[in-house]
Amino acid sequence: MFIMRLDKFLCETTALSRSEAKKAIKNGEIKVNDYVVNKAELNINEKADSIIFNGRSLRYEQYVYFMLYKPKDCVSATNDNVSKTVIDVLNEKDYKDLFPVGRLDKDTTGLLLITNDGDLSHRLLSPKKLVYKTYRATCDKDITKKMCDMLEEGVDIGDETNTAPARILSFDKNVIEISITEGRFHEVKRMLHAVGNEVVELERLSMGTLELDKSLKPGEHRRLSDEEVKKLNELVGR
Ligand code: URA
Repeated sequence: MFIMRLDKFLCETTALSRSEAKKAIKNGEIKVNDYVVNKAELNINEKADSIIFNGRSLRYEQYVYFMLYKPKDCVSATNDNVSKTVIDVLNEKDYKDLFPVGRLDKDTTGLLLITNDGDLSHRLLSPKKLVYKTYRATCDKDITKKMCDMLEEGVDIGDETNTAPARILSFDKNVIEISITEGRFHEVKRMLHAVGNEVVELERLSMGTLELDKSLKPGEHRRLSDEEVKKLNELVGR
């Protein structure tokens, strides 16, 4: 159904509340197909009509997907009384219901998917889907073959069950690239600790088919391409 009241459409596509949307319409700030309109209850066709708000063309999108290069010192939450959140860092004010897909520790950097698509998030995080998350961990000691073997077996990190087997993609001196399917609290740090090492820097490089864009700098973000969204959907069976 593409028909929607103009004030509702404004709420869906901007950060305006319903009353702010009505006010903006009354104030003549909205043009529909090049004409200023002042009827909040006007039905518009969200696919066919051109809606301009203060010179900006509004497009209705049910779901949006952003890749954030999470910097240090922000928390993977939507609200926090003390710390800056990843939603503050993203600073996409036109979208109201964004949340991070899973959590990275405050001092972990790297790939974080931020969206308003709850179903995709749920599937990506479901332990049944076995979505691999790849991390580059810099440790305080060199990585040995023995440590890798233990990590690939699954290790006791003090939980009821051992961790699921990890995949070790590479290791060199004190740096290891490790993929895991679970998302337990501090999992990579606790896994390395369990094999006699300590993580000093942690960066997420990928989640399933989605790879951190190397042209982004910490704190920067971009939208996912249609291809990236398609691949994630395929990965989780949508
Ligand atoms: N494992 C950790 O220990 N920390 C993270 O932020 C992510 C995975």
